[in-house]
Amino acid sequence: MKQGVQVIVPGSTANLGPGFDTVGMAFELYTKIRMEVSDEPKVVLYGDDLKGLPTDRSNLVYKMAEYLFEKAGLTLPPLRIQMRSDIPLTRGLGSSAAAIVGGLVAANYLAEEPFSKDEIFQMASHIEGHPDNVGASLFGGIVVAVMEEEKVPYIKIEPKSSLKALAVIPDFMLSTEKARGVLPEKYSRKDTVFTLSHAGLLIASLASGRYDMLNTAMQDRVHQPYRTALVPGMGTLLDKAHEYGALGTALSGAGPTIISFLEGNDERLKQFFVDTLLQNGIGSTTMSLMPDLHGARISEDIDTPF
Ligand code: HSE
Repeated sequence: MKQGVQVIVPGSTANLGPGFDTVGMAFELYTKIRMEVSDEPKVVLYGDDLKGLPTDRSNLVYKMAEYLFEKAGLTLPPLRIQMRSDIPLTRGLGSSAAAIVGGLVAANYLAEEPFSKDEIFQMASHIEGHPDNVGASLFGGIVVAVMEEEKVPYIKIEPKSSLKALAVIPDFMLSTEKARGVLPEKYSRKDTVFTLSHAGLLIASLASGRYDMLNTAMQDRVHQPYRTALVPGMGTLLDKAHEYGALGTALSGAGPTIISFLEGNDERLKQFFVDTLLQNGIGSTTMSLMPDLHGARISEDIDTPF
């Protein structure tokens, strides 16, 4: 068994409008995890962003290590886990997916890699309940995946180097549970066909680099209309962002972050985002994001200070 490893995992956006629980895209925004065999279990968290998370075995990353070792039929030794992250928590940028992927990838390395990357993806998707964020975090780029009983077939698409994103992160947290709780059990045929056809166009647009189609392709009637009430100003941002240079705009994952894709300068869009949320009584910060193309990566360097 290996004695230590460091893993860097990108955050992600999910859904991109109509690709609900199916499409994810990774960004150069990272969670860093160092996992070492130790005398007693301990989780050390760095930075304000992780404040409040558990520092014992109930930490999600620790739980992932326990899960993977159990699946492999191995006994987990006590671990010292160090963690820092640039991914804002509970905002729709895949912080928990990054923790799940990071914990599994690091533990798999310590266990001498009993599982393939595809098997890690299946585990992560079943733990998270959907493959969109975990797929992007694990593989990088844009990942389109479907959950089947056992397998999670996927295809990775590399975005063109011109594609970037602007995220506006409202100053409040929104749990995925709450944002999924407002979704209906059933949909009309009209809304189903509307969303299916737009999801098809979305993937064709991303795969072919026809980003001029994104504004049309990112329309959906499966989740965003029901989540609008949870994010004051969201309706205006989705309707009007293209007037400020956005190629397409969506609620990022379960929100509350809103994300636009663009190829040019994002200054006008930034101002529009911040002003619109402020008019709705919500403070926010913006992040200009570049796609991450590599996904989770392992480093054996556990000697340099964390
Ligand atoms: N596809 C998920 C959702 C992403 O929109 O609920 C959040 O985890």
